[in-house]
Parts: sequence; structure tokens; C-alpha cells
Amino acid sequence: MKIRNVRKEESGTLAELLVLAASKKELDSLGGAKRGKTGVLKSLDTQSHGQLAKEVKYRKFEGKIGENLLLHSAARPGLRAVLLHGITTKETPNSYETFSRYRKLGTTLQQTCDSLKIKSVQIAAEDLGLSDENFLRAFFEGFLLSAYDFDRYKSKKEEKEKPYKGPEEMIFVSSRKISEKVLADTRLVCEATILARDLVNMPPVDCTPGYLVKKAQEVAKKSKLAIKVFDEKQLKSMGANTLLAVAKGSSEPPYLIRLTYKPSGRSGRVVSLVGKGITFDSGGLSIKTAGGMETMKCDMAGAAAVIATMQAIAALKPRYEVRGYIPTCENMINGRAARPGDVVRTMQGKTVEILNTDAEGRLILADALALAEKEKCDTIIDLATLTGACMVALGNDYAGLFSDDQKLVDKLIEAGSLCGERFWRLPLAPEYKELIKSSVADIKNTGGSYGGAITAALFLKEFVKTDKWAHLDIAGPAFSDGNKGFVKKGGVGFGVRTLVRFLMAR
Ligand code: BES
Ligand code: ZN
Ligand code: ZN
Repeated sequence: MKIRNVRKEESGTLAELLVLAASKKELDSLGGAKRGKTGVLKSLDTQSHGQLAKEVKYRKFEGKIGENLLLHSAARPGLRAVLLHGITTKETPNSYETFSRYRKLGTTLQQTCDSLKIKSVQIAAEDLGLSDENFLRAFFEGFLLSAYDFDRYKSKKEEKEKPYKGPEEMIFVSSRKISEKVLADTRLVCEATILARDLVNMPPVDCTPGYLVKKAQEVAKKSKLAIKVFDEKQLKSMGANTLLAVAKGSSEPPYLIRLTYKPSGRSGRVVSLVGKGITFDSGGLSIKTAGGMETMKCDMAGAAAVIATMQAIAALKPRYEVRGYIPTCENMINGRAARPGDVVRTMQGKTVEILNTDAEGRLILADALALAEKEKCDTIIDLATLTGACMVALGNDYAGLFSDDQKLVDKLIEAGSLCGERFWRLPLAPEYKELIKSSVADIKNTGGSYGGAITAALFLKEFVKTDKWAHLDIAGPAFSDGNKGFVKKGGVGFGVRTLVRFLMAR
């Protein structure tokens, strides 16, 4: 898609679809026969002999903030439709809602283009507020992400033969040039988000631990990142026994992947990202129900987000080092599978009593966090589809955020709020530490009946030394049960945009 900037609306540059800001002034001008300076809408209405004004009135469109109205209009040659975006009422400036509104506008535009097979779009960018870089970014995110469709496993012809690939040209009308860098960077981040979605959506028979290794290697090669893959033999000699214990029940070998981005200059700080990479979670001997297993290919969404973030970071080039650690295996059942009651010594040295083999995420993360700590870094952020309890607490739209570092909490929530990803802080409650005490080992991998997201986070905390650590429980928002705007059914790619935002804001 070509992107062009024009200073002001010219009749010669008209596209098939016009996106206009429906301000109070513009809408009022439709009614009366007022003379003087009027906008594009009024002139289109005049050219259509009052058709647009009638339509606006008939459809009871008041242009309330965020309200959209699609008008089919051939008022000018080549024009097919006009999309009006309401801005007549007030909203809290720079709130989460404002950014969402722009993301929704991008989504509506993409869906309109798709249904009308629009080839060129002209956007009244300045009137719509798109000169603001954050709004522009949100708008473009909505536009790019809502075009996502995971159809590579469909064999039906009609599903595959989709010649329409979105508009060929997008023209922004603005006296100040729209930031090409923001658009280019947003494209990179959305491509990464789509990579994460694809990985989550792939069936677990294909997206195995070995496949994640292959993908990480591809990303490393393409993006010039350093990569180290620890295989089973190396994991044994490193003492990554909790990762190995989970992997034992599967025929697929486990891996621990480390991707490294190094800035060209001298790097000061190091940020380490850790992503849970269970490519399928059957629960192990503490087996899940059939229904509970249906979406468990999503249990590597943390890993997918880390691989994708590393890809985007390699292109965006922050000034410090970023590492991505991905412990990956399957949680399956065979004669060698870990049993409830088994005791395992972690890489860090603590012993763990495995009482529930379905609480496997914290086990593989324990060794990965220990490695990240051992290799020294300043900040650690882990992402994991860790607990059903977090979904019970926060529902599908909010990820749980655990950290004792107030600044880190604020920065992550702020980054998330800018890009439409919600985080809610939950406590690393010291009162509940005794719930993970074991009678035979140092700790056990389950807590009590309540506060399951918290006891899981407290378990992870045993393996990190730094206070600059945040644990993101993304069990709720990682996987969507239906199409919701720019979020499509299946893998959401949750976390990628927030992490990139967070990393680039420092
Ligand atoms: N992968 C699941 C958590 C999950 C559930 C993610 C639903 C996404 C959707 C995790 O490994 C798990 O099974 N956790 C258990 C822990 C319990 C056994 C202590 C849970 O939450 O039920
Ligand atoms: Zn599990
Ligand atoms: Zn799991």
C-alpha cells in the first residue's frame, strides 16, 4: 500500500473512499444554505444536490464522538463512499478511550475497504486529529491488525482466492506532513504482532517446541539477532530439571532459546524478556478436561510474544541490550511423565515438589528466570498464560501484572494504555508465601484454593533476585473466543505492542 501526503483537499486527488471528520460546524453547514467558508462535506452535499444532508438526517447521525456513518455517494467522479467520523462531543483527552477510538476508526476503515473492495482512500487526517503521533499510531494499528485472517489451513477455493488485499493507496490530507516514521514503525510492530498471532493459531501438531526453535532461528537470521538454543543434553548439564521434568511426558524434546539484541554503541542496561512456551498443555497426569484442553495450543502465547517482540526490537534498535528467553516443551502424558509427588531440583538450586502437573508453566519458567538472573540483567519481564485463576479475577480483557517495583508497574500500564492492552496490578502478597511451602521440599508448585494467580506469581518470585521484575499473567487476553474489532478469534498477539512501547520509551 502506497502512502501519500497532500496539503489540502484537491478535487483532482479524490480517492474512492473519503474519510471525513464530522465536526459540529461541518454538520451544521449541511442544514442551512449558509455561505462563506465551508468544508468538504458541504461541497460534496452541494454536488450531490442535498443527498448527503438528507442521508445524515434520515440516519439520525449526530456525529457524537466515535460515532461512524458510511454514506454511499457518487457526488464526484470516481468517488464511491464517504465515511464520517463523529467528533461533535467531548471526551477525556489522551485517555485510554481516546486511543481506542482511533484504533476503532482504523478498524472500521479497514472493514469498509474490505467490504467495498476499495482501491484508494483519502483521509482528512488533520481534521481527524491524526497529526498527533500517538493517535496516528493507534489508527494505523487498528487498520493493519483488523485485516488479519488465519486461513493457511483452509483448503476451500473461495477461502483461498481472495484477490483483494486492501487499498493500493492511502492519502493523508494534512498541512503538516504525517509522520512516515510512525507509520513505518507501526507496520513493523503489527507485523510482529501478526507473527505472534500466527504462532498461537498454528495447530500444536505443527507448532512444536522444535518449530519454535526453527522460527526463532529464522527471526534471528533475518533480523541479525544472536541466538543460542540449549538442547536436552545441555539442559541436563545445566541442571534445568524443572523444564526437563515437564518435558519428560512428551515425545517432543524441550529447548531453551535465547535471542539477543545488542545495540551498536556501548550498551548500558540489559532488559530480559521471558516467555512461557508450552506448545500444548494437556495438564499431564493431573489431566485437564476435554473442554479445558480445547484452547491449550495457546499456552505458548508468552513465547510467541517474546519472539515477535525481539523481531520488532531488532528493527527499531533501542540503545540498550534486550534478551529474550523462551523455555519450550509440551505438557503431555506417557510412562515417563512427571507424577504428582515428584521432587525436582531447579537450576537455581531450590527443590520443588510437583503436586499438580498442570501447574507446569511456573516449573519451566523457574529455570528460565534462573538463567536470565545468572546471566545478569537489570530488568526482567516475563509473560505467561499462567493461571485460570487470573482469568477468574480479571476476565478476558485484562492481564494480571505483578511487580514490587512501582516505576516498572507505572511504565508498563502506561505503555499498555497507549496501545490498547490492559494490565491490572495484583499483589505479590507476602502473607500467602506460606501457601507454597512444601512439607518435603523447599516449595511446592500449587497454592491453596484461592488466589491462584498470586501464589503462581509468588512461586516465580522465588527464582528472581532483582526487584525490577514484572510478571504478566496473560491467560485471559492471549486468546480470543471471537472476532472483536481488530482482535480476531484465536491468538491475539497480546503483549507485543506493550513490550515494544515499553522498550522504546526508555
Ligand atoms: N495453561 C494453564 C493456564 C490457562 C488456563 C491458560 C486457561 C489459558 C487459559 C496452566 O498451565 C494451568 O493449567 N494452570 C492451572 C494451575 C493449577 C493447577 C494450580 C490452573 O490455572 O488451573
Ligand atoms: Zn497447565
Ligand atoms: Zn499451561
